[in-house]
Amino acid sequence: MRTPLVAGNWKMNKTTAEARELVATILAPLGGIAGVEKVLCPPSTSLPVIAPMLTGADIGLGAQNMHWEEKGAFTGELAPSMVKEFCGYVIIGHSERRAYFGETDEHVNKKLRAAMKAGLTPIVCVGETLDEYESGRTGEVVSRQIKLGFASVDSASASRIVIAYEPVWAIGTGKASSGENANGVVRQVIRRALSEVFNENAAQSMRVLYGGSVTGSNAAEFFSQPEIDGALVGGASLKADEFVAIAKAASRP
Ligand code: PGA
Repeated sequence: MRTPLVAGNWKMNKTTAEARELVATILAPLGGIAGVEKVLCPPSTSLPVIAPMLTGADIGLGAQNMHWEEKGAFTGELAPSMVKEFCGYVIIGHSERRAYFGETDEHVNKKLRAAMKAGLTPIVCVGETLDEYESGRTGEVVSRQIKLGFASVDSASASRIVIAYEPVWAIGTGKASSGENANGVVRQVIRRALSEVFNENAAQSMRVLYGGSVTGSNAAEFFSQPEIDGALVGGASLKADEFVAIAKAASRP
């Protein structure tokens, strides 16, 4: 049994005052939902502000990115130990990091191994662009992202890794994938690649989320799919009632 997980990726939104306000609103209704792991991923400036608010609340905290080195001359970056000071989770390889900040599968691999070493729960994003989707290359692209991104990771600890399947064409566009399409990619491409990199047991134990224009109204369509174990939510995670509705839909008490 894979415990469902719903993570809110706030991206570059909200000052610390705004973040505090959203968390204060969402704390009780979100924390009260059983049968689903809930995670908030605010901008890094808000991590130390939000961490104490979540004490005892059954809501996890995650960073949106981190560097793989432990310290040194890497201007603008956060080390795994710095993330670990406040967070249990970290998003790795989001498509916006790949598209705008030059992240490669090799970077993703270094970050993933550093996150595992630091004891963080990584949420690793994979997904094809519109062009790759339209030219029928989804399988090839996503399977490469997994094989390169997950290389040399110990299969004994693989079940800790969370994967987010996020078709780039569905992110922030309001055009979500159908539940059936996403389920097919997870079953035929993602779990198959994971079983090649690790083994069948590990592949079945790892949680795979869907991400891309998930809302309170379409969430149930994804969570009713057998291969989808939750969601990575962008835009809708900035609205308390929407995010709570998504978490409720994912709950399997
Ligand atoms: P979206 O973003 O829900 O706004 O489409 C999802 C994501 O980028 O993780």
